[in-house]
Amino acid sequence: MTRCVPADDRVAVIGAGRIGAATAVGLAHIGWRVDAVDCRPERVEALASGSMAEPEPRLQDVLRSVLTNGRLAILHRPRTAAYKVVLLCVDTPALPSGEADLRQVIAAAQESVDAVGEGGVIVTRSTVPPGTGDRLLYELRSLGRSDIEVVHLPEFLREGHAWEDFTCADRIVIGGESCAAIERVKRLFVLLGRPLIVTDRRTAELAKYANNAFLATSITLANEISDVASVVGADIAQVVEILRADRRIGPRAYLTPGLGFGGHCLPKDTAALEYLARQHGLDLTQLKATLQINERRPFEAAAWLERALCGLCNRTICLAGLAFKPGSEDLRESPMLRLARILAAEGAEVAAWDAGVHQPPSGVRMGLDIEDALLNSDALVIGQSGCEWRELEPQAVRSLMRRAVVYDAVGVLDAGRWAAAGFISNRTADRITVPAGG
Ligand SMILES: NC(=O)c1ccc[n+]([C@@H]2O[C@H](COP(=O)([O-])OP(=O)(O)OC[C@H]3O[C@@H](n4cnc5c(N)ncnc54)[C@H](O)[C@@H]3O)[C@@H](O)[C@H]2O)c1
Repeated sequence: MTRCVPADDRVAVIGAGRIGAATAVGLAHIGWRVDAVDCRPERVEALASGSMAEPEPRLQDVLRSVLTNGRLAILHRPRTAAYKVVLLCVDTPALPSGEADLRQVIAAAQESVDAVGEGGVIVTRSTVPPGTGDRLLYELRSLGRSDIEVVHLPEFLREGHAWEDFTCADRIVIGGESCAAIERVKRLFVLLGRPLIVTDRRTAELAKYANNAFLATSITLANEISDVASVVGADIAQVVEILRADRRIGPRAYLTPGLGFGGHCLPKDTAALEYLARQHGLDLTQLKATLQINERRPFEAAAWLERALCGLCNRTICLAGLAFKPGSEDLRESPMLRLARILAAEGAEVAAWDAGVHQPPSGVRMGLDIEDALLNSDALVIGQSGCEWRELEPQAVRSLMRRAVVYDAVGVLDAGRWAAAGFISNRTADRITVPAGG
């Protein structure tokens, strides 16, 4: 899949975090000469020595190979007038209002001005609200660079699947107003042979937010259906399987229930879209509900545990999984971590086990394994959809715990078997009873 490119056809990726590193390594792998630039010295050092900060299968090996063959360089700052394409992969965190904080993007664009050759393109790969490209163009024009175009290239990759999603993207969306600039960006990715969708810039900018709003809303819907399944005694895992078998929904639909959506993107991007709409006088009832439901979900779990344990003070709660999704180390906006904080604030001890998390957050005792985390606990919480929880043996778990209470937010446990082992569970305890003959 590699190709030869002229030596001066160099690409810069500004911001070598999760997205920037994946983009830089991927482009270098398919044949481009890439400079990955980051202002954090420790990130530059780590990448230059062949080490990815975040665990991404396959990417680590490819990083080493593109460093060795010289296609990828890791730099503190970009070269001068060296690139026809500069991709901005810096962060766009949420401000307290929900608004996307664009300071890093604007600063990175300004800092790139001298790096972009005559008639070059600045590509926003960061998730940015519609209109950001126009704002960057304005900044560039005021710095005397009316020759630079701005294109938006939204990133849709999933954490933990960066390589798969780079090489086999469902689609590559390129949003811009200049045909020449769009062609330049197309050329970067054409070798991947993935479906290309070309749009204007604002459409591409909005599409990424719409994508994340859809995913967040489908998770929230699954969570509400899961609550209904608990009270009517239905199997949520089978309900989800049936939904995914519908071709209008699809096998990869985000319908796994849990304690809510988290991670770096869905919460902030959903909030940013709602904020943007509000600024334009729109009331996005659906999206606001999605955010509210998600916000209160860990509180609902804590309230259930408080009822089941007759209080939380001095109780020990074991959390099975801590990162925002299984197989990840990422604790950002993790609903399980939010639950841990709520429980700790009520005086509970919190223990946890997560194979991906190596740096224990403060106030949480990380077990050496799930058995160690369970030792002398009063309740077990399954809030993350790791398939290993299905293998837990209720009798063995019972023998490690002080009390037999389980909160299964995901619906992975066999509720009947756990009830037979003496467990009080949210999957059975809240069930509504149907009057005989009713
Ligand atoms: N994390 C994901 O899974 C994901 C998926 C899709 C889209 N996105 C979007 O991609 C963007 C980046 O996300 P991320 O997770 O890679 O963020 P990140 O914080 O991991 O990486 C950003 C990097 O940019 C560097 N940086 C900031 N300003 C810089 C500058 N002026 N010059 C050089 N380096 C600079 C930082 O040091 C950091 O290493 C965000 O807008 C995010 O919403 C993220």
